[in-house]
Amino acid sequence: MTPPLTQSDIDREIAELHKAHDGEEADQPRRDFAPYRSSALRHPKQPLIAVDDPEAAELTGPVFGVTDVTALDADLTKQHLGEPLGERITVQGRVLDRSGRPVRGQLVEIWQANASGRYLHQRDDHPAPLDPNFTGVGRCLTDDEGRYAFTTIKPGAYPWRNHVNAWRPAHIHFSVFGTAFTQRLVTQMYFPNDPLFPYDPVLNSVTDERARQRLVAAYEHDLSVPEWSLGYRWDIVLDGPSATWMEEGR
Ligand SMILES: [Fe+2]
Repeated sequence: MTPPLTQSDIDREIAELHKAHDGEEADQPRRDFAPYRSSALRHPKQPLIAVDDPEAAELTGPVFGVTDVTALDADLTKQHLGEPLGERITVQGRVLDRSGRPVRGQLVEIWQANASGRYLHQRDDHPAPLDPNFTGVGRCLTDDEGRYAFTTIKPGAYPWRNHVNAWRPAHIHFSVFGTAFTQRLVTQMYFPNDPLFPYDPVLNSVTDERARQRLVAAYEHDLSVPEWSLGYRWDIVLDGPSATWMEEGR
């Protein structure tokens, strides 16, 4: 029987892959980043199939209307009768194109664990408490300046079964919808100075250090609301040299 993988095994693999891809020009994480074990099984192994008629594909895809999105959807602390537990935060930023122009009217969706690091999901059964007042999903549309804003709870770190003692740094999953379902982009936002960064194969599947930094929000004191919440700023750049790295297989 092969011994269980330790953090040191994973650290070694990450270091080797970072060295191998040092300075490489890329704008996407690798689809099969070996230290992130399930990516080996999950990533597409066949070439993509071009759809002859993309408009027909859109007709069967999910749709949403501007009137479907309400202000309540962007406040994850007000979706239940009571207040969720944890550190209340506001997360704001802009969705920008490669030239820094605002991307307006974009559906931005988030999902996240609660303050204890637990998702409200049947596959998450690790022994941390659920919060009856927190679902962990939200959405909003960007305004004319490309701005989005959410009020939520700072998510906790959580364990996963990639290797022995594997922990994900606190993060919020983001989706930017585009103008059609086939354009959807998915990524993750992290919190500054998280001690778990070096150990996480998911974050480190982004092999470029500067690109990893672009996934980390900045604490911004002026965004903190007195007596209410701590403020974080995180901009999403859709392409170009400053692009936010997105997950493949979208
Ligand atoms: Fe997650």
